[in-house]
Amino acid sequence: MKTNELVLVLDFGGQYKELIARAVRGLSVYSQIHSGHLSAEEIKLMNPIGIILTGGPFSVYLHDSPKCDPEIFNLGIPVLGICYGMQLMCFMLGGEVTSGSTGEYGRVMVTPIRYPNKVSLSTKPAEGNCAGYSALFANDKPFTALMSHRDIVSRLPEDFSVTAATAACTAACENAAKKLYGVQFHPETNDTEDGNGILKRFLYDVCGAAGDYKLDDYIDTQVEQIRRQAEKEKSPCEAKVLLALSGGVDSSVCAALLSKAIPQKLICIFVDHGFMRQNEGDEIERVFSKRKLRFIRVNAQKRFLAKLKGVTNPEEKRKRIGEEFIRVFEEEAAKYGNIPLLAQGTIYPDIVESGGGCGAVIKSHHNVGGLPKNLNFTGIVEPLSGLFKDEVRIIGRKLGLPAFLVNRQPFPGPGLAIRIMGEVTEEKLEVLRKADAILREELDGKKRSPSQYFAVLTNTLSVGVKGDGRTYDPVIAVRAVETSDFMTCVYAPLTILNRISLRITNEIPSVSRVVYDITSKPPATVEWE
Ligand code: XMP
Repeated sequence: MKTNELVLVLDFGGQYKELIARAVRGLSVYSQIHSGHLSAEEIKLMNPIGIILTGGPFSVYLHDSPKCDPEIFNLGIPVLGICYGMQLMCFMLGGEVTSGSTGEYGRVMVTPIRYPNKVSLSTKPAEGNCAGYSALFANDKPFTALMSHRDIVSRLPEDFSVTAATAACTAACENAAKKLYGVQFHPETNDTEDGNGILKRFLYDVCGAAGDYKLDDYIDTQVEQIRRQAEKEKSPCEAKVLLALSGGVDSSVCAALLSKAIPQKLICIFVDHGFMRQNEGDEIERVFSKRKLRFIRVNAQKRFLAKLKGVTNPEEKRKRIGEEFIRVFEEEAAKYGNIPLLAQGTIYPDIVESGGGCGAVIKSHHNVGGLPKNLNFTGIVEPLSGLFKDEVRIIGRKLGLPAFLVNRQPFPGPGLAIRIMGEVTEEKLEVLRKADAILREELDGKKRSPSQYFAVLTNTLSVGVKGDGRTYDPVIAVRAVETSDFMTCVYAPLTILNRISLRITNEIPSVSRVVYDITSKPPATVEWE
């Protein structure tokens, strides 16, 4: 099997590690995130063309802050240290890092600096790169860059030169002869002007990358791998793989990939719990019934609703929905005999966030649909586990899935049940579906749509006046947020709130008023429950 050139992203707890790895892949070079503690020996075995050290919330001079193996700087592999990564490299090589007096946070002007005794690079200098300046920079013009640090490199290691500075710190430094580079700012974020160019020049001009990573290859490789895995399994029935299909982006793309690889050997079970958005269950059925796979829709709306009767506590709702999902799935799986393999739409961030690096564990590696590990399967198939979300979307498009599925916003497993405050009833679901559909009609496909938006049916009643009569009906809350990772968010400043409010109150007689949620996360969460 063909292997790609590899760039290792060594994690020191930086919040942007996934952005770095994703940006590298966007430049056609395969990247993987690993713990910052990886030894030089382990790294050598992986044969990377370059190493990137991430940022992190620590101070390198504290004895318990994460350190890398100092030998990685002697491997002859180019290294780019970003933020904490640059400080760590300088510190480990004999430089000095101290706490700065003020700190720099946000966009800061960075000025490239010419260094007189520049050691000539063995690799070709960047096109248009000015002689005497770092190969990382396109030219000698000052640029804005995202900074987020208090500590500064106060003394460089021997044979290093300053290649850029701000008013407060050494913004970049390098030992070009040894191909060791550091930037105090974050080239991986959009807030850094030409940040992508800086990474590109590191990959192509310093590491000498050929750029052999293409998602088309990923599909072919996975198809081959899935076929081999299924081939090995002995099974009394023709089906070898069972997929719990939720209709979310990951499990839908997983279904499309599996159906390309083993159409006859796949069964997809879609449990419709009745908490989907307007027409969503039917749309999922329409898309997958047309594909070459066995698609089974289990209409379990009534039994899920019955499980939630009288339940108002959000955690209890989630728990009951999760349990019921497992019961339905087990019952259905039993109907198809001993299918040996369970497929899951696990993606790369699920694995990284399960604690692959030095950062805090954000959430545990989840199973699709909350399936427990002790279900009776001999193996797991996770064909998307090497991909980021937007790569999964690209694969979905290449596999011919429709835009509405591939571009879906995140949708919680318990669905609308956790967007209805208090007890969930059929009538309330009906009201919320309508309000949510109106909101989506107004925002879907707009040039600058927020990252996620939805309606919430609150359990507050308010007085209104419609026609000549008094009303006393529920309040709908509209939530629209901007975020890149859904771990934090700010509310989106919508300009069409008036129209949304008018439509909801006019088209849904039982809604008295519409309010807009203007809370960030933290302190709120994206969802209300
Ligand atoms: P919170 O509410 O935790 O949401 O700020 C962050 C993101 O996760 C989505 N979300 C879920 N997704 N199962 C999921 O698959 C869940 O139970 C769940 N709860 C929240 C939420 O929509 C947002 O995008």
